[in-house]
Amino acid sequence: MQHYFIDKPHKETDFFEFKDSVLGYELCFRSCDSIFSKTKIDDGTRALLNAIDKHFVLSGTGLDVGCGLGVIGIALIKRFNVNMHMLDVNNTAVSLTQQNIVKNNVKPQASAFLSNGFANVKDYYDFIVSNPPIKTGKKLLFSLMDGAMQHLKPNAPLIVVIRKDHGMQSLKNYLTSLFNNCEIVARDKGYYILKAIKN
Ligand SMILES: C[S@@+](CC[C@H](N)C(=O)[O-])C[C@H]1O[C@@H](n2cnc3c(N)ncnc32)[C@H](O)[C@@H]1O
Repeated sequence: MQHYFIDKPHKETDFFEFKDSVLGYELCFRSCDSIFSKTKIDDGTRALLNAIDKHFVLSGTGLDVGCGLGVIGIALIKRFNVNMHMLDVNNTAVSLTQQNIVKNNVKPQASAFLSNGFANVKDYYDFIVSNPPIKTGKKLLFSLMDGAMQHLKPNAPLIVVIRKDHGMQSLKNYLTSLFNNCEIVARDKGYYILKAIKN
C-alpha cells in the first residue's frame, strides 16, 4: 500500500488550488493529489486550530511537525503573529508549503524544510504543534513525540490532535510517561486535542 507520505513524480497538471477558511481567515493553497487533505482543510486540523485559538496564547517561534500543505503554520502566523518552522518528510509537501507561505503573505515569519521526523531539526521551540501521521504506526508517532520533547524550551507546550479511535488513549499514556503531564484541552466530533508541557 502506498501511503500519502511517499513521494512520486508529478506532472504540472497534477497541481491545483483551493481556498478554505479557518479562524476567520480565508486562505489559498496550491495542492496536489498525493498530499494529505488535498482539497480542503482537514477536520482534525480545523479542530486543532480552533482549540489553540480558544485555549492558548502563542508567542515566539513554533514548529509544525508533518506540515502537509502548511495549513497549521500559516493559520497560526495569521492568528498570533508568531514565527513558524514547518517540516515534512515529503518533498512535494515541503515545496507546496513554501509556495503557500508566499501565496498567503506570511513569508517573513515562515520557513519549511524537509526532515524525516526530527532528523534535520536543530532549534528549540516555544511551542510544537502537529496533526501527526497515524497510518505509519505507533513507532513513528511516538518517535515524533520524543523529538518534540527534546526540541521544546522549558515550560513550552506540545499540542497535538488525534482521533479517539486512532489511538488517543495510547498517545495520551505515552505523552504522560514522557512529559509527566498530559491533558485533554478540547474534544470535537471524535478529535481530541492533547497538551503536554516540557518541565
Ligand atoms: C495527518 S498529515 C497532516 C498534514 C498537515 N499538517 C495538515 O494538518 O493538513 C501528517 C503529515 O505528516 C507527514 N509525515 C509522515 N511521516 C513523517 C515523518 N517521518 N517525518 C515528518 N513528516 C512526516 C506526512 O507527509 C503528512 O504531510
